Parts: sequence; C-alpha cells; structure tokens
Amino acid sequence: TFTPNAFVEEIVAEMKEKIGNDKVVLGLSGGVDSTVAAVLLNKAIGDNLYCIFVNNGLLRKNEFQSVLDQYKGMGLNVKGVDASERFMTALAGLDEPESKRKAIGKAFIEVFDDEAHQLTDVKWLGQGTIYPDVIESVSATGGPSATIKSHHNVGGLPDFMKLQIVEPLRMLFKDEVRRVGATLGIDPELLGRHPFPGPGLAIRILGDITPEKVAILQEVDAVFINGLKEHGLYDKVWQAGAILLPVNSVGVMGDERTYEKVVALRAVESTDGMTADWVHLPYEFLMKISNEIINNVRGVNRVVYDISSKPPATIEWE
Ligand code: XMP
Repeated sequence: TFTPNAFVEEIVAEMKEKIGNDKVVLGLSGGVDSTVAAVLLNKAIGDNLYCIFVNNGLLRKNEFQSVLDQYKGMGLNVKGVDASERFMTALAGLDEPESKRKAIGKAFIEVFDDEAHQLTDVKWLGQGTIYPDVIESVSATGGPSATIKSHHNVGGLPDFMKLQIVEPLRMLFKDEVRRVGATLGIDPELLGRHPFPGPGLAIRILGDITPEKVAILQEVDAVFINGLKEHGLYDKVWQAGAILLPVNSVGVMGDERTYEKVVALRAVESTDGMTADWVHLPYEFLMKISNEIINNVRGVNRVVYDISSKPPATIEWE
C-alpha cells in the first residue's frame, strides 16, 4: 500500500542525494502534477529549484495572476513570464487542431528555453511526469492511438538544452499524486482542479484563434466553472469547460435580430480521460448557466450542451 508520508521522505532524500548543489529548472503549468513535483523538489533543494510559469494567453480567466500568487505564497522560487503575444502571433492564421498544437508546443519550448538560458549553471530539468504519462509516451512511439492527438506533456525537451531529467512523480498514479500533495499541505482547491490541456483554450476555440475569441471564451468558461463550484457540482465532474464554435446563429434581443456565436458546454465523468461519459447536469443548473452566459457575455446568443461520450467523441472538440 502507498503511504504518502513515507514516499515524501524517501523521494526528498533521494533527490537531495542525486541533485546535490546543482540547479534545477521546472515549468509550472498550474496543474496538480507540476505543482506537487515543484513542492517536492523545493523541499529537497530549496531555492536551487527555479520554477517558470508561462502565460500562453490561453489560460482560464485571471488564472495566470492568481496561480502565480498562489505559487509565491507556497514559497516557490517562481518567475511568471507573460508570453501571450508571442503565442498569439505563433497561432495567427492557423485553424487546424494539430497545427495549433504544434505552434503552441514550439512557442512554449522557445519561451522556456529563453528563460532557462537566463539562469546560469542549470544542470537538471524537473518534470511533473506521472506514471500514466510514461506509459502513454512509450505507446506513443508505435501505438495506433499515438497519432490521434499529439500531446506534448512528455518529451518536450529540446535537444540543445542537454539537461538531465528529474521526475519525482514518475512512479505515481494521479490519486497518489493528490495524496502526496495533501501531505505536503498544498491547497485542496488546487489539488482538486480539473485537468486542463496544455494548449489550453486554443483547442476549445474551433478554427483560428484571435484575442477577441479568447476573451469571449474566458468569460463563458468562468460563468460555467464558477457555477459548478457554487452549486457543489465541480467535484462531481472530472473535467468541464466551454467550447467556442465557429458558427453564428440567429437570435433575437429586444426588437433586434442578432447573429452571434454559439458556445457548447462540456462536462464529463472519467477516471483517466481514456473513456468518458457526459455528465447529466441538472436542467435547472443548465438553464441558469445558459441565461447567465447569454445575458452577460457579449457576442454569444446560443448555448448548447454536449451529450456525447468518449468514444467515439473525444473530450476536447479538437
Ligand atoms: P481527448 O480530447 O483526447 O482528451 O479525449 C483526453 C484528455 O487529454 C486532454 N488533452 C490534452 N492535454 N495536451 C494536453 O496536455 C493536449 O494537446 C491535449 N489534448 C487533449 C484533455 O483535456 C482530456 O483531459
């Protein structure tokens, strides 16, 4: 059986031994895995762990600042890098899902590498890789599912960085990572966060990305996610989010005809993301959220709810 306390003691000792007085650089994503990995490394080597948290401009509303503040509050040696414009430029004109993923992956590596080069004498790259990522990246070299979507959580190390890799969570499953996080005193709200894809809102805006579309989707997403929290539904759902569709539909507002965007809401139950069922959210809740979105988010006049399960649909729409 897995005991978080014993694991923490063991892994911290192991990393101290392995890393010594070297410096480690680690990219924080705002997610559970990279956060727990950072706190463990910080426990082992203190401020010799240099964390970098990149704003790709595709995060949830206000997320960059609030998560950065949270990291600082946890005593992590973290630098927030706002690279939104760089990502937006890299995405300009791209409308195909895999092209968008590649552009984002490439921009991330460039930004991260620029930052890492500003640190001298870094020897290690810390990563929040967990056991299922290890399995997936192995199967991704040959498995038939590998080409469906190019996830870029693993293997994102550019050759020229030549750093050794340290992955304190590489033997753990997600629930074990959460238990380790709890033992370390990490905020339960952070540990209970839904998974969020690396390319962020870019794969929830179907078609090409513009700052205006990102702003609309951030507002819609915030209404939905805050609503789930307020109604005690957030923890009952494995993952939730909103999708901005590339179609306009006709509506009516007062005496005026409108011709505006459609958004889809998605909430799924899952254990590992490999299969998923859509969640039967209460009609009353959906009604309230739909009204709130249409009344408050300019540019949206229709809300639909995704009732597809995986397979054959995927969780994300791109
Ligand atoms: P799908 O859409 O493949 O999603 O059913 C399964 C899980 O993976 C997440 N996802 C991604 N995560 N980079 C990521 O880091 C990606 O490109 C990516 N695509 C999907 C998705 O949010 C879900 O949790």
